[in-house]
Amino acid sequence: ACIVVLLGVIVFTSVHWGLHPPSRVETIDSTSLHKGGEFSEANLGTSIATDGSAVVRVVAQQYAFVPSCVVVPAGVPVTMRLASADALHGFLIQGTNVNAMVVPGYVTTAHTTFAESGDRLMPCHEFCGVGHQAMWAHVRIVDAKQFPFEDAKAKAVSCG
Ligand code: CUA
Repeated sequence: ACIVVLLGVIVFTSVHWGLHPPSRVETIDSTSLHKGGEFSEANLGTSIATDGSAVVRVVAQQYAFVPSCVVVPAGVPVTMRLASADALHGFLIQGTNVNAMVVPGYVTTAHTTFAESGDRLMPCHEFCGVGHQAMWAHVRIVDAKQFPFEDAKAKAVSCG
């Protein structure tokens, strides 16, 4: 009976809340993120893909997310892509279905759409060392009219 209840909880939260473990096993060399490729510095932040959706690329490292403030448009599908530069980290965005671990050597992908504008916190939720409690970022959700879509098609943007 316990097993059935636990499986039921998993199915219910997966379907009803849109919670899902990252299922794509996409690998990356965590030791050379800064040397180029998808997670090089110029690519970090929010870009607008050709289909009009937003892609947010963030590096998790001891003890910060880079960038530390992410800006996204409300009402637009958002794909979060995170990679760790060192240890095991985690991230969640308060009040959303985004909640995942960032494992060194893998790219973590999460999908969401932010219904309303406003600021949300994105803390690290895996103990990653002595500075873990200070590791968090802001997610700034702005009205789609205020989001710099044209800039973000050309290069990644972040807050400020
Ligand atoms: Cu990164 Cu805790």
